[in-house]
Amino acid sequence: MDITKYFQFVDEAAVWLRGRISISPRVIVVLSAGLDGFLKAIEQPVKIASSDIPHFPRSRTEGHAGVLTFGNVKGVPVAALAGRFHYYEGHAASDVIFPYFALAALGAEALVATNAAGGINKSFQPGELMLVTDHINMMGMNPLVGLAVQRAENQFTDMTNAYDKRLREQAAAVAKGLGINLREGVYLAVSGPSYETKSEIRAFRAMGADAVGMSTVPEVIAANFLGLKVLCFSCIANAAADLHEGAISHAEVLEAMKNLSPKVVSLLEGVVGEIGSR
Ligand code: HPA
Repeated sequence: MDITKYFQFVDEAAVWLRGRISISPRVIVVLSAGLDGFLKAIEQPVKIASSDIPHFPRSRTEGHAGVLTFGNVKGVPVAALAGRFHYYEGHAASDVIFPYFALAALGAEALVATNAAGGINKSFQPGELMLVTDHINMMGMNPLVGLAVQRAENQFTDMTNAYDKRLREQAAAVAKGLGINLREGVYLAVSGPSYETKSEIRAFRAMGADAVGMSTVPEVIAANFLGLKVLCFSCIANAAADLHEGAISHAEVLEAMKNLSPKVVSLLEGVVGEIGSR
C-alpha cells in the first residue's frame, strides 16, 4: 500500500462499509482465535469478509477467519473482528492497523481487544484471564511510523492512559459480578512468529512483564492515536517458555483458548453492555 494514500484509502473503506451496514458501531471487539462464540451474542448480524473490503489486508493464519460482524450486543452497536491481522503474517505495520482506522471513521469510540498470551508472572496459571493494565512494545516497530507524520497535529501520541482506567474499573466490576477471577498485569508484545527463548522470558520478567504475546500492541497504539478508549483481556493460554515443560505448540494455545472461551465471551458481553450504558 502507498502510505501517502493511507488516509484516502481509510475513507474509501469507510464509505464502502457505510453502504452495507445500517448501524454505527460504538465498540470494536477483537476476537482472538478460539473466541468466535462471542459472535452468537450479536443480534441481527451483518457479516462482511475482510477480503471484500477495499484496502483491507487478508488474514492468513491457521484458526483466524478474517470476518467482520456488525450488530447489537445488549443494545450496543458493535463491530466484531474475528481474525485480526498480525505483523508476523508479513503485513506491513500500517496494514495491521488499517481496520481500526476504518472502523474509527464509522464512529467507534472504544476498542475491546482479546489475545492469547504466555504467562510470565509465576503466579499465573493457564486458563486464567488477565486485564491488561499497560504494555511493553518489543515488536521492533511502531505502526504509526509514516502515518502520524501526515497529520497536521497530534503527531506524537500520548500513551499514559493507553488502557483506559475507567474502562478497567468497569471491567473489574463486571468480572466480579460474574464470579471471574480477573488477574491484572503488563502485556509484552513480540513480533513472533517464533515463541520466546527461556532467556528472553527471564529478561521480560525483569522488565516488568506479566504476559507475552504476538498481537494487540499495534492496534492499541492505533486506537490511542485515533482517540478510542481501550480495554484488553489476555487469555493466559500457557506458561511462558522458561516455566513451560517441553515445547510450546500452537495446538496447545488453541486448545486452551477453546476452554477459556465461555468465560471470556460472558465477560465481553457484560463489558460491552456496561460501556454502552454510559
Ligand atoms: N508467547 C508468545 N505468544 C503467545 C504465547 C507465548 O508463550 N502463548 C500464546 N501466544
